[in-house]
Amino acid sequence: MRGKLIVFEGVEGCGKTTQLQRSQQWLVDSGWQSLLQAKGYVQQIITTREPGGTELGSKVRQLLLEEPTAEMMQSRTELLLYAADRAQHVDGYLTPHLSQGALILCDRYTDSTIAYQGYGRGIDLSLITQLNDIATSGLQSDLTLWLDLDAATGLTRTRQRGSIDRIEQADLSFHQRVQQGFTALVQCHPQRITRIDATLTETEVAEQIQAALGQRFAQWYGTERPEDKG
Ligand SMILES: Nc1ncnc2c1ncn2[C@@H]1O[C@H](COP(=O)(O)OP(=O)(O)OP(=O)(O)O)[C@@H](O)[C@H]1O
Ligand SMILES: [Mg+2]
Repeated sequence: MRGKLIVFEGVEGCGKTTQLQRSQQWLVDSGWQSLLQAKGYVQQIITTREPGGTELGSKVRQLLLEEPTAEMMQSRTELLLYAADRAQHVDGYLTPHLSQGALILCDRYTDSTIAYQGYGRGIDLSLITQLNDIATSGLQSDLTLWLDLDAATGLTRTRQRGSIDRIEQADLSFHQRVQQGFTALVQCHPQRITRIDATLTETEVAEQIQAALGQRFAQWYGTERPEDKG
């Protein structure tokens, strides 16, 4: 039994972390988790994030997101740090759990690197694709939920949330290029990436995600949605 990797992607403040947590709770409350476990399709449901899904990765995350210092981080350095975090995460966490049959909800993955370091920083896209292949050993998501929100609205949300990190501090045009990157990615990978309208309320966004997950479970496991428990 191989597990499944489900990734939440999108610009800063689009609601990835909020919706990942809601999805995890919904899988329990809706009865999906117990149904998939009882049928032996899924061993456990776990959550993780990039960067920082491992102990080593959380140190890399600090380097990547801490306040800018006098020495500016170079774009290629940033790219390679994300790749190092990912290699550690794939080999030390994602692959072992997938081989045991886990369903993994992951906050950001390879598409963020294409959007941020490729479209945002302007690093050659084929170089990034090669580096993603090295860092992941070819491990792709089974489903990526792209929370589509314009960059300005996302940044307003993160600023309301409180302290802002090094990446969030980049100017609006950077984040608009990132958003263009995600828009291009969904066009290239319409099977793997599902667009979610993230401009709506938290509950409405959650409902779209639940519909997308239910559809995928039917496709992967041939299983209908469990009877409502409420
Ligand atoms: N649909 C929504 N409508 C309005 N506000 C929202 C919505 N979803 C989340 N928020 C709020 O916006 C802020 C950012 O949400 P969240 O932290 O989930 O985004 P994120 O995509 O994980 O951000 P980051 O890229 O910084 O990790 C939070 O304060 C959250 O409560
Ligand atoms: Mg988040």
